[in-house]
Amino acid sequence: MLYIGVDLGTSAVKLLLMNEKGGIEKIVSKEYPLEFPYPGWSQQKPEDWWEQTVAGLKELTAYADRDKIAGISFGGQMHGLVVLDKDDNVIRPAILWNDGRTTKETEYLNNVIGKDKLSQYTANIAFAGFTAPKILWMKEHEPDLFARIDKIMLPKDYIAYKLSGVHCTDVSDASGMLLFDVKNKCWSKEMMEICHVREDQLAQIFESYEVVGNIKADVAKELGFPETVKVIVGAGDNAAAAIGTGTVGNGRCNISLGTSGTIFISSKEFCVDENNALHAFAHADGNYHLMGCMLSAASCNKWWMEDILNTTDYGAEQKDITKLGENNVFFLPYLMGERSPHNNPDARAMFIGMSMDTTRADMTQAILEGVAFGIRDSFEVAKSLGIDIKKTKICGGGAKSPLWKKIIANVLGIEVQVIESEEGPGYGGAILAAVGCGEYASVHEATEKLVKVIDTVEPDKDLTEKYEVKYKQFRNLYPTVKCLI
Ligand code: XUL
Repeated sequence: MLYIGVDLGTSAVKLLLMNEKGGIEKIVSKEYPLEFPYPGWSQQKPEDWWEQTVAGLKELTAYADRDKIAGISFGGQMHGLVVLDKDDNVIRPAILWNDGRTTKETEYLNNVIGKDKLSQYTANIAFAGFTAPKILWMKEHEPDLFARIDKIMLPKDYIAYKLSGVHCTDVSDASGMLLFDVKNKCWSKEMMEICHVREDQLAQIFESYEVVGNIKADVAKELGFPETVKVIVGAGDNAAAAIGTGTVGNGRCNISLGTSGTIFISSKEFCVDENNALHAFAHADGNYHLMGCMLSAASCNKWWMEDILNTTDYGAEQKDITKLGENNVFFLPYLMGERSPHNNPDARAMFIGMSMDTTRADMTQAILEGVAFGIRDSFEVAKSLGIDIKKTKICGGGAKSPLWKKIIANVLGIEVQVIESEEGPGYGGAILAAVGCGEYASVHEATEKLVKVIDTVEPDKDLTEKYEVKYKQFRNLYPTVKCLI
């Protein structure tokens, strides 16, 4: 049988076709635009996601035996606010996870409602990118559009809805809305009231590997798929990536270097960081996880390479980087503000420490290191909670760079395990589809059988020591320059 994983990302939708043995038969990627209409805003058109997903599904399966397609599932960019009216028209562009317009609403939730209450209702506090503050923003700034809302959904759930007709979401993605009681896996009545939302506007909740229904007949016809294809609800992209890298069970770690940068720690028990610096979310394996999220990771490097240096030859740019641990240039990676750990949508990026002998390679190196230091910030929070991480998996576009993996291993001082496929969310989505269709008894069984470690990057003692010094310097920079940005 064949299973499709759809990774609905921020720059593109990546679709992956997997056979029942876990072999990847084909990968297709289709881009769509990202709008920044005002500083700090970030939006996308759900209609573009759908159009490119349909085009991608056709291309992905063009030479496959479509009768063998059993299921389709997702890993989707989290937190985005998608709103439909009663005729299922999209009311406004989706407000994305890295949008920073909700400073006022976030402050209201954290300071007037109060962090204690939010944490008690949802296990989390408000961050600008979460869904609930965006709903409050819409109510305040677009009251006419707000009044038309019939359905509230997350990005990947819009695709599942278009495919299946079921208004559904899964526990991992719902966790990032700040409307969901993570511990009890249900919508929070208190948060619905605070956000002026009715339960009938919210989706039906599923575990990530559950079937929501079959593909609709008209969609099946357009795609040339059998009507028996099952739609499995899927997960937020980080939980899906964790499945794709085998980060399930207790105390396992995955780092994702995508547009965002995340550190994800799986847990069998519900757990919450009492300062709420890390997100406490449900996992796609039926359990829970903690996560730190940087808003700009591989996107810092993309911006530097493509917008500033005008090149797409990432490898060539990195080959002159030889003096690891000795760079005097630092980069604060806050191009879209920062979530973990600073929770400041107005933070901004900067280079610090240049001199006349600073080279282009030093600055590229500073970008890679700045992101690694940002991941280390969340790693430190996890350590302060008594979580002992000795190794991690890695995925995302940035994980294609051997140099970046080496920097991560040495900045964190832990082993970085490289797996066969860096396609975390897409592969995770395909695994969830296979579990939903009964190919495997559980997510755990599927990942044990399918995910293979092919290489390990070991930290080097001398280099780790050098990076320890550099990290201490990095850590002092944001508090020092915060008043300027
Ligand atoms: C996680 C987060 C990002 C997006 C990126 O909390 O906001 O990782 O999911 O797609």
